[in-house]
Amino acid sequence: MIVLDVFEAIHGRRSIRAYKDEPVPDNVLKKILEAAIMAPSAGNLQPWEFVIIRDRERKERLAMAALGQMFIAEAPVVIVVGADKDRTSWRYGERGETLYCIQDTAAAIMNLMLAAYALGYGTCWIGAFHDDEVARIVGFPKNVRPVAIIPLGKPDEKPRAPPRMPLEKVVHLEKYGNRWKQ
Ligand SMILES: Cc1cc2nc3c(=O)[nH]c(=O)nc-3n(C[C@H](O)[C@H](O)[C@H](O)COP(=O)(O)O)c2cc1C
Repeated sequence: MIVLDVFEAIHGRRSIRAYKDEPVPDNVLKKILEAAIMAPSAGNLQPWEFVIIRDRERKERLAMAALGQMFIAEAPVVIVVGADKDRTSWRYGERGETLYCIQDTAAAIMNLMLAAYALGYGTCWIGAFHDDEVARIVGFPKNVRPVAIIPLGKPDEKPRAPPRMPLEKVVHLEKYGNRWKQ
């Protein structure tokens, strides 16, 4: 059993773009996906959908659809995460379709990435891709919008943390523009 402080996971996770040639066992995938679906969602409607891809050719097609980011095809597993707009819009209308279902799915993706890190696996959130092509490759129906492509595998690199903007720049006190002094 892995015990990892939540702050250690948040600070230690990096986007990984090089993977070892080692398969990802099903029990690891299950644990990661179980963490993903524990994310909060509007009305607990859980609009997320996950497609697990191990097939080499399908991974290559996804990499091409992601503007030629070929490292995606080198990961032993790729997970395409989609948001089912219908699952949220029947209750929340346009706000459900354009905002909640994407927010819910993004929260699930973050859980997935942190869980993968806690188990010793690397991921990278891929957001640059042609929606229609990705949907076609994984067979999403019209109501499911692809939100992210997540390559997953044992890291074969140790990137440094890209810099973050300082808190003083992005945190405001009471109203936007009022500096938060610590
Ligand atoms: C919505 C979104 C889209 C992204 N799209 C890509 C992408 O298409 N290709 C890529 O290599 N990284 C992509 N990234 C990863 C970011 O480049 C990365 O998270 C950022 O540089 C911070 O690095 P870190 O994840 O190691 O902290 C994306 C991240 C997010 C959240």
